[in-house]
Amino acid sequence: MEIKTVTFDQATPAGQCSPGQAWARLPPEQSPQQQRQSARRIKELLRQRNAVMVAHYYVDGALQDLARETGGCVGDSLEMARFGSEHPATTLVVAGVRFMGETAKILSPDKTVLMPDGDATCSLDLGCPAEEFGRFCDAHPDRTVVVYANTSAAVKARADWVVTSSVGQDIVAALHARGDKILWAPDRHLGAHIQRQTGADMLLWQGSCVVHDEFKADELQALADAHPEAAILVHPESPAAVTALADVVGSTTQLIAAVGKLPTNTFIVATDQGILHDMRQRYPERIFLAAPTAGTGGSCKSCAFCPWMAMNSLQGVEQALLQGSGAIELDAALGLAARKPIERMLQFAAAQRQRVQSSGDMARDTALFQNFGPA
Ligand code: 13P
Ligand code: SF4
Repeated sequence: MEIKTVTFDQATPAGQCSPGQAWARLPPEQSPQQQRQSARRIKELLRQRNAVMVAHYYVDGALQDLARETGGCVGDSLEMARFGSEHPATTLVVAGVRFMGETAKILSPDKTVLMPDGDATCSLDLGCPAEEFGRFCDAHPDRTVVVYANTSAAVKARADWVVTSSVGQDIVAALHARGDKILWAPDRHLGAHIQRQTGADMLLWQGSCVVHDEFKADELQALADAHPEAAILVHPESPAAVTALADVVGSTTQLIAAVGKLPTNTFIVATDQGILHDMRQRYPERIFLAAPTAGTGGSCKSCAFCPWMAMNSLQGVEQALLQGSGAIELDAALGLAARKPIERMLQFAAAQRQRVQSSGDMARDTALFQNFGPA
């Protein structure tokens, strides 16, 4: 197996960032025939084990297809959490990164939660060690602690609220409206984006995502100039200069939904390129262009592919189901403490969904698409 070294921002709340070193292993490639055979065996194992797959849009397309075909879920991190907690299967196979598996285990402690590779991590999780984060919280006891889902269970356990990119802005807006001051961790770009959108008083941890931090505004502007008809879709983990150019800023699911709603045929996509598998399947007639990163040479940390999402493979799923590898184990007390702020988020999201459904109110969409003029 090939091992890749990844440099990430080892952040401190004081604002300094120093580079940290991590690694990711790339699974060996399978031929199309091997993939078909693997998928057949996995289908049978899922049935035998009363298991269901829960996959993120950034994992390999073959895993996304298999999750859908077998009645599982492909979604953003909020949808993955909700689906896993509500599904009656006794085993969840989470194809994504560790915080997603941990969230599933926190919400369903009695289920077996397996991952194709339990070492698949996230630079935001790595860049926010629980002890240091605890000291940050202790120093600001007057602030409501809001943490992004891309964190360890121990960091979540210190939080009042856990949020994902699909509901973070709305939750912070609601907290701001009731007068709360926020302590936010770990993604500095998402935190700053939410701060700009809501006007909330937010103290930010200084972490970043190795994928989204790489998008470059000047190059993106040049690409947009060459394709004036294109809508620009940006995940909010991207730097401010990049989100400033966006027609739509949103979670992975919100970006996919935007493709179906915007009156144009061409899209520039600033997020992990794994998402294009789903976008192309849903909208085969549309044209998708990858937003520029630092380049494909040595200076590119991710080249818009998350090295840890890439650790997920069909072989990994099969091994997990056969041998129980990649099983998530969590201390019960820690799980219980981390569960409360996640459940708050799920309840907020459920109430929000109900409000939108009952009023037929598309206010959220209107806000998302506010920048996009006629095609
Ligand atoms: P979403 O919740 O928008 O899918 O984001 C998860 C993530 O890790 C993005 O890098
Ligand atoms: Fe973490 Fe970025 Fe990978 Fe998402 S894309 S899992 S934020 S490193």
